[in-house]
Amino acid sequence: MTIDAPSLTRRIPTPPWGDPRDRRTVTYDAFVKTGGYKALEMALDQQPGAVIETVKAAVLRGRGGAGFPAGLKWSFLAPIDGGRRYLAINCDEAEPGTFKDRLLCDFDPHLILEGIAIACYACQLDTAYFFIRGEYHHQARVMERAIEEAYANGIFGGKGLLRGKVPFKVDCHVHRSAGAYICGEETGLLEAIEGKRGWPRIKPPFPAVKGLFGRPTIVNNVETLAAVPGIIEHGVDWWKKQGCESSIGAMPSYGSKLMGVSGHVNRPGVYEMGLGITLRELVEKHCGGIRGGRRFKGAIPGGVSMGVLGTDQYDVAMDFDIGVKGEVLGLGTACPTIFDETTDMVAVARNIVRFFKNESCGQCTPCREGASWAFKLLSRIERGDATTKDLDLLLELAGSMGLGPGTTICGLADGTNWAVRTIVNKFRPEFEARVRPRLVPLFVGA
Ligand SMILES: Cc1cc2nc3c(=O)[nH]c(=O)nc-3n(C[C@H](O)[C@H](O)[C@H](O)COP(=O)(O)O)c2cc1C
Ligand code: SF4
Repeated sequence: MTIDAPSLTRRIPTPPWGDPRDRRTVTYDAFVKTGGYKALEMALDQQPGAVIETVKAAVLRGRGGAGFPAGLKWSFLAPIDGGRRYLAINCDEAEPGTFKDRLLCDFDPHLILEGIAIACYACQLDTAYFFIRGEYHHQARVMERAIEEAYANGIFGGKGLLRGKVPFKVDCHVHRSAGAYICGEETGLLEAIEGKRGWPRIKPPFPAVKGLFGRPTIVNNVETLAAVPGIIEHGVDWWKKQGCESSIGAMPSYGSKLMGVSGHVNRPGVYEMGLGITLRELVEKHCGGIRGGRRFKGAIPGGVSMGVLGTDQYDVAMDFDIGVKGEVLGLGTACPTIFDETTDMVAVARNIVRFFKNESCGQCTPCREGASWAFKLLSRIERGDATTKDLDLLLELAGSMGLGPGTTICGLADGTNWAVRTIVNKFRPEFEARVRPRLVPLFVGA
């Protein structure tokens, strides 16, 4: 797995990187030698509010899936009242096809910790929980070691950030997930940290007002926080130059992004790219093209919950406008999965829906029952036992599920909705070839 040059925001060396277990690349000393923790010092020289303003001006959009601007989220925090305030770092990364946060932990744990310390200082949060996917055993150990080093070197704990303009102390803990996709949803994650079943909460209240243990909490993705030191150190203009403006009058897509490419490409891996690169350029120029010289058939832009790009959408730009321009839910994690011309799209749809059916937490009827029924219908279509009526029923069922139609507590159900509708609508002939025409009863009138 590699991150291709340019390494715009990070101090990660260019490939080949060697083994991530090689401690020389990830120690506190190695990080400081390459300019690490300089941005934290720069942040500590400012008032916390000024740091938030810089992140706001950079329009750093969340890298966990929804693209919500981090600075704006930070400014929604409930006012300081002397009680505890938390940061929950989302490293659950259970979205199929997404593996970028794992790599950040492997190769640059102190960059993440620097981002955490800056966010805690800016928002005056005293405790950070690093919530990490249950299967990431190695990465959890890397983060634990890095946190120990950060304590020993006065980033966290007793001495803490006392040298800042506003003296401040932060504690940081690793919390390992028990292993469920829904624990990546921000309020499911908070429940899990509290030791409960990972059931998403009804919003509002949002975590910034009432989060962990009922206290104000910021939830941010690992990559979002890892981008903060670069913005503080090099400035807002530097950050903006790496991304692009919106071409549809929406919020801009500034900065670089880790794009983990998987599927039918010659060189799968994690590539750091400026937002706005086209999918074609990413695949053809950086990932060695499609395997076996085959043709592009479609792609998932960033996690299976985003839906699917069609064959004629290879030139779509990988930025936050992709929802409108590519007729998908959004950019998601910007980790595309590529399908070549041999891919069976009925099987793709069935496989994705099977995932959502298994991962639904079961609180909302449309998600719990809907995903199960969609799976049954898709299995019937795959077997060749369905009629055109089943296809219409499948579309109607999927379209009724999720935050979009307003029938569920969280966005997991929107994943089923978008996956089904985009795959069926963009590859309809493939589905029609698998179903029998609707049987019209021959009535002999009474
Ligand atoms: C079902 C579901 C799973 C999610 N999984 C993750 C995840 O693994 N990692 C993540 O950062 N965000 C995940 N999210 C998004 C989070 O709810 C939240 O928006 C994000 O952590 C906020 O961080 P950001 O603003 O820095 O992106 C998920 C959302 C849903 C609905
Ligand atoms: S939408 Fe699905 S996963 Fe989300 S809370 Fe409802 S039942 Fe649970």
